[in-house]
Amino acid sequence: MSDAIHTPVLLKEIVEIFDPQPGQIFVDATANGGGHTFALWEKVKPSGTVIAIDKDHDLIAGLKKKARDAGANVVSVQGSYAELPQILHAHGIEKVHGILLDLGYSSYHIDQAGRGFSFQKDEPLDMRYDNNPRTQRAEQSSYDGKLVNGITAEEVVNGFPEGDLADVIYRFGEERFSRRIARAIVEERKRERIRTSGRLAEIVRASLPSRFGRGRIHPATKTFQALRIFVNHELQDLEAVLPDAVEALMPQGKLAVISFHSLEDRIVKNFFRTQKQKGKLELFSKKPIQTSREEEKGNPRARSAKLRVAIKL
Ligand SMILES: C[S@@+](CC[C@H](N)C(=O)[O-])C[C@H]1O[C@@H](n2cnc3c(N)ncnc32)[C@H](O)[C@@H]1O
Repeated sequence: MSDAIHTPVLLKEIVEIFDPQPGQIFVDATANGGGHTFALWEKVKPSGTVIAIDKDHDLIAGLKKKARDAGANVVSVQGSYAELPQILHAHGIEKVHGILLDLGYSSYHIDQAGRGFSFQKDEPLDMRYDNNPRTQRAEQSSYDGKLVNGITAEEVVNGFPEGDLADVIYRFGEERFSRRIARAIVEERKRERIRTSGRLAEIVRASLPSRFGRGRIHPATKTFQALRIFVNHELQDLEAVLPDAVEALMPQGKLAVISFHSLEDRIVKNFFRTQKQKGKLELFSKKPIQTSREEEKGNPRARSAKLRVAIKL
């Protein structure tokens, strides 16, 4: 587990919007280092509960220790938020006052996990959040749109047919050069298996027209995003949790989702809209809430954050 803290995004806003009261129950479905978790705990203590879920085994081990040291009633669960109903049921909880989803990866994954999340590092190409050794591995040799469990980025990059690789990079990275990149990967892997993030970043960079290598954004950004989203089936998990989260809220309970790119935000926006039409949810605000200039200065990642909140009717 890391000592470096992931700086929580929109922390003040989340606490203000949830307005937690002593004795209430909240779910932090993407707990990470507990930035939001413990801020919520401070408000619901001493009789309240925060259920803290994360896919990452190492992060959950750290959270458990932190909760124990603080004497906090934070129930840390290693698992996917896509299993929210089962997790709540296992802890004897029926309805909660609020649920937070702060999507994607964290500073810990980029800086310390050693799993190849960053194109700026040369690490084994893994990219799974769920590094639980007990997690069943169900490898697949091509992309057929189905949910995959346990597959690593290395297996995708070295094993998928060229067309499927291009589809993954296009669909989850919105990368317009997906075919060109997939071609280059397939050529390179014929010579030698691609094992590290550094090598992959270099192959992607070399496959693009040189003018794309000079900007502020690294040319492998979209390819890395695509592999991360695919390996962790991030969009499927998000689509699965939204209806279950609404179900788990008590009337007037709030669902808050912080997203970091348009693929995620589109899913949340459309879901909230259809639930509003069905009279199940009310929107907290019409437009997404974004970070202040001040927060962006201290935390560049916050710049792309969009928070959408809905209230259960
Ligand atoms: C942006 S971080 C959350 C940061 C946290 N809110 C904080 O401020 O300390 C997202 C976290 O979600 C976790 N995660 C991603 N997909 C998940 C899933 N399907 N179920 C549970 N956790 C997931 C990642 O492991 C990561 O730790």
